[in-house]
Amino acid sequence: MGKILVSSSHFESLCQGAKKLLLDAGHEIILHKGELPYMSFDEIAAVAPEIDGAIIGLDDWTEEVFRIAPKLKVVAKFGVGTDNIDKDAAKRYGIKVINAPGMNSNAVAELTVGMMIDMLREITDLHTAMTRGEWPRFMGSELEGRTVGLLGFGAIARLVAKKLQGFDVTILASDLYPNLELAEKYGVQIVSSDEVIAHSDILSIHIPSTPETYHMFNDAVFSRMKPGAYLVNAARGAIIDTDALVRALQSGRVAKAALDAFEHEPLHADDPLLLTGKVICTPHTGAETKESYHRVSMCVAQGVIDVLNGKDPMFWVNR
Ligand SMILES: NC(=O)c1ccc[n+]([C@@H]2O[C@H](COP(=O)([O-])OP(=O)(O)OC[C@H]3O[C@@H](n4cnc5c(N)ncnc54)[C@H](O)[C@@H]3O)[C@@H](O)[C@H]2O)c1
Repeated sequence: MGKILVSSSHFESLCQGAKKLLLDAGHEIILHKGELPYMSFDEIAAVAPEIDGAIIGLDDWTEEVFRIAPKLKVVAKFGVGTDNIDKDAAKRYGIKVINAPGMNSNAVAELTVGMMIDMLREITDLHTAMTRGEWPRFMGSELEGRTVGLLGFGAIARLVAKKLQGFDVTILASDLYPNLELAEKYGVQIVSSDEVIAHSDILSIHIPSTPETYHMFNDAVFSRMKPGAYLVNAARGAIIDTDALVRALQSGRVAKAALDAFEHEPLHADDPLLLTGKVICTPHTGAETKESYHRVSMCVAQGVIDVLNGKDPMFWVNR
């Protein structure tokens, strides 16, 4: 049957079910064994001519790749965000782009809530101070009574809202196509994006990275946020103008930011963001739980099998 390149990480250790699914269907797996969940163009080019499918992480899949991959029928994003795949070019080459929506949402939603509490109570900073032998006093704040704003009300944001129900917060959300039924179910007030930005004590970003959302958070938007608001971005780095965020943190307009995604990854230790001392960062690990790896891998493996069997996949992004 087909040869499937897997460039996403932890496939061997956490995705045995998906591996079995692919092998039982008669496919051969070519596993990328690099340190990072990225393959360079040259690494991809070395195997591109022989592959029928690919299960990919954060590497770039562009027309240059499709041009040298004549057998390629399906590119499956190990996750949701397909901004690293040129979907239109793929379509022109007859390649289906698929993903696994909702399969890692819970992991990102739990991290998002964790980041909110970490910022308000400075858990990470206090721990770091203790590793230096300090015993600092710090007066934190509570989530209760606060207004949490969700920019975007898709799969992840809805789960964040569901989890926040027990915290006695006011939840605002905006979306281009809001699901009013779920908003009512989770006690969420659907408002405009401008209102989410202006009224949130804690603003959490859950929209995709698109040309329309590129640098949506710029100086003008930060200046409209509540002074001293907190920001969470576990979506995509390109949504925020990083230089503007650094200015907003330095001025105190944004009290603190918790970030899982960055414009340029990996982030370096001397990055101006880290030097503000007002960020909590995780290295794009929002979706990285054992549970989500299992769910995502089973979903994309089935999608790849379906495409190579000539069936329409369930989650087809460039239909
Ligand atoms: N940190 C991670 O590891 C990680 C993991 C998974 C997903 N993500 C990212 O999280 C984000 C949300 O993922 P999701 O699964 O909830 O996606 P989703 O598609 O379910 O929801 C996104 C929502 O945003 C809305 N939207 C789009 N543009 C908007 C705008 N300009 N204003 C308001 N709403 C807008 C859409 O209508 C949609 O309802 C994406 O950027 C995704 O790439 C990050």
